[in-house]
Amino acid sequence: MSENDSLKGQDELVTRASSVSNKGVARMQRDDKRKVYLDNAATTWPKPEGVYRAMDRFAREVGGNPGRSGHEKALEAGREVLRCRESLAALLGVSDPSRIVFTKNATEALNLVLLGRLRRGGHVIITSVEHNSVWRPVRALRCMGADYSIAECGPDGTLDPHELAKLIRIDTRLIACTHASNVLGSLLPVREIARIASEHDIALLVDAAQTAGRYPIDVEEAGIQYLAFTGHKELFGPQGTGGLYIAPGWEVEPLTYGGTGSLSESAEQPGFLPDRYESGTLNAWGLAGLRAGVDFVSHWGVERIREHDKILTERLLDGLESLEKVRIYGPRTWEHRIGVVSFNLEGISSSDLAYLLDERYGICVRSGLHCSPLAHATAGTLREGTVRVSFSFLNTVEEVDYLIRALEEIVSMV
Ligand SMILES: Cc1ncc(COP(=O)(O)O)c(C=O)c1O
Repeated sequence: MSENDSLKGQDELVTRASSVSNKGVARMQRDDKRKVYLDNAATTWPKPEGVYRAMDRFAREVGGNPGRSGHEKALEAGREVLRCRESLAALLGVSDPSRIVFTKNATEALNLVLLGRLRRGGHVIITSVEHNSVWRPVRALRCMGADYSIAECGPDGTLDPHELAKLIRIDTRLIACTHASNVLGSLLPVREIARIASEHDIALLVDAAQTAGRYPIDVEEAGIQYLAFTGHKELFGPQGTGGLYIAPGWEVEPLTYGGTGSLSESAEQPGFLPDRYESGTLNAWGLAGLRAGVDFVSHWGVERIREHDKILTERLLDGLESLEKVRIYGPRTWEHRIGVVSFNLEGISSSDLAYLLDERYGICVRSGLHCSPLAHATAGTLREGTVRVSFSFLNTVEEVDYLIRALEEIVSMV
């Protein structure tokens, strides 16, 4: 099933949805203005007010190109970008903010490391719940002489780090591991994996696309060499923002070369960070918004955000478990998961269910394979995909209850 499957058969579903309501069995009235957004693993929405304000301020009042000129507007743009770097460094446990380089998303950050370390060959270990942003580059790297092994997770997406350790070879150059599965919500034991990697002097790349901003991360304490993050999910920044932490001594070749505003007389790419990896004009409007998003996260604190995630997730899991015909995937215990929950209802495809939730109840969730066929193969859902509900700090218990009531109604219809 492809991601576009949810677009197929919509006419049929409109018919089905109206025939259902015509039977008079629907108890809930959709408020047309109501949108319950539960697709935050794709991108968070809405953003905190400060994010909109910061971008508006940058666009209207700052406007310069960071690092490119000496006038006040360029200098203020540069200061705004630096403040974003500093806020991220404080959040992620990075003592030198220049070791955070900006990219347009997590995918670009992951590619930077994967290609940087493996484009001349070598072995990489990944897990069986990786997103396509790791899986596809690793597959593409085979034609450059690189090889990979996959550490198998259990069907709930959890990983025994010893399974991964068994795959280490003499030519292993990198372990790439997602921090939490975007399909199953399972947390992977990155601290244990970092310990194993360091015992073998192998670099660890952590994909924190789903965890940065919602789960505590201290890269220096954990001994992580590369941490890729995206700005537009739980860090509440806008789309088009993301970045990578690179530990000292673990620099790789850049993905792109070009103007940096520094050392313009030189034909060579600057060797220092962040300029080495930041060719071309940055998305400074976006980084102004990202900084406000990160400051929002820091203001509330990741521990408190995680506590809220727990309340919503356990309420959802309890509600789902009370339904008939439901199959839930991923770990049941909170310590092993985040607020990303996949499930299916017997008798209705994931795409039809997602469509029905949106069309009849104004609830936005995602269906299909969520760009991670590996995770679905692991969970046994490669054919049918899943419906995925994912929270942000701005979701409420009432929204979870509304979803459960909608699902109860749907279960009674199918
Ligand atoms: C686990 C994981 N890794 C990587 C990505 C890619 O993030 P981006 O789309 O920001 O590149 C995602 C996005 O959904 C993800 O969930």
